Amino acid sequence: MALSPLLFLLVSLLLTQTPADAATCSDCFTQSRAAYYSNSDEKGTDAGACGFGSFGATINGGDVSAASDLYRDGVGCGACYQVRCMNSNYCSDNGVTVVITDQGSSDRTDFILSKRAFSRMAQTTDSAASLLALGVVDVQYRRYPSKNITIKIDENSNYPHYLAFVLWYQQGKKDITAVHLCETKNYACKLLDRSHGAVWTTVTPPSGPLSIRMLLSDSEDGEETWMVPTNDIPEDWKAGDEYDSGIQVD
Ligand SMILES: *[C@@H]1O[C@H](CO)[C@@H](O)[C@H](O)[C@H]1NC(C)=O
Repeated sequence: MALSPLLFLLVSLLLTQTPADAATCSDCFTQSRAAYYSNSDEKGTDAGACGFGSFGATINGGDVSAASDLYRDGVGCGACYQVRCMNSNYCSDNGVTVVITDQGSSDRTDFILSKRAFSRMAQTTDSAASLLALGVVDVQYRRYPSKNITIKIDENSNYPHYLAFVLWYQQGKKDITAVHLCETKNYACKLLDRSHGAVWTTVTPPSGPLSIRMLLSDSEDGEETWMVPTNDIPEDWKAGDEYDSGIQVD
């Protein structure tokens, strides 16, 4: 469905690129529990519910996690969390930063970390072994901004007929709840479908460089803001490529 130029102008007027400052609080951790995928590879799974495919195993160096409530029907996919465990004998102060790539829960946990990420909450290799032996540990977590939102063109995309991508490193407190794909020349836009997890898709995407618009929703105060990345998807986008959006979300 293409928006007329006039309607687009109206939409543009509603766009704002100044999300409210996220408080830089050090005491905004939430208490929870975390386990790890005992039967997994060192890194993440390539069959995660978020639809990240084989990238789900390697994103963020393999420091990934399945989430239970935080998965939120796929809205939580790609979000970063700082997770630190609480046992002062074993655990480091900073813990580990993970990206949500899957859905899952185990024994009242919010996170099932990759084995690698779970080990990285520890102070040393020895304490990592002790942590792994515990299986499930008390943790604190908070949303963690670290990287620019990255547009990863899905492996199943087929230039120029079918475009699917995932948005990595959506962070801060807000969620991406809708995405428009726009031509940069005529500004005709299409509302994309969220097919599963964090995968946004469209058949017959517009041609030329493409600009996306993301609707950011704050689940706490209900505020919604359209945001436009600095960088476009290039005209000759390719399956498997990654494009830095140039922006972060608080
Ligand atoms: C994020 O994007 C900005 C441009 O908006 C760029 O200068 C910066 O290097 C990017 N940061 C990272 C970590 O890639």
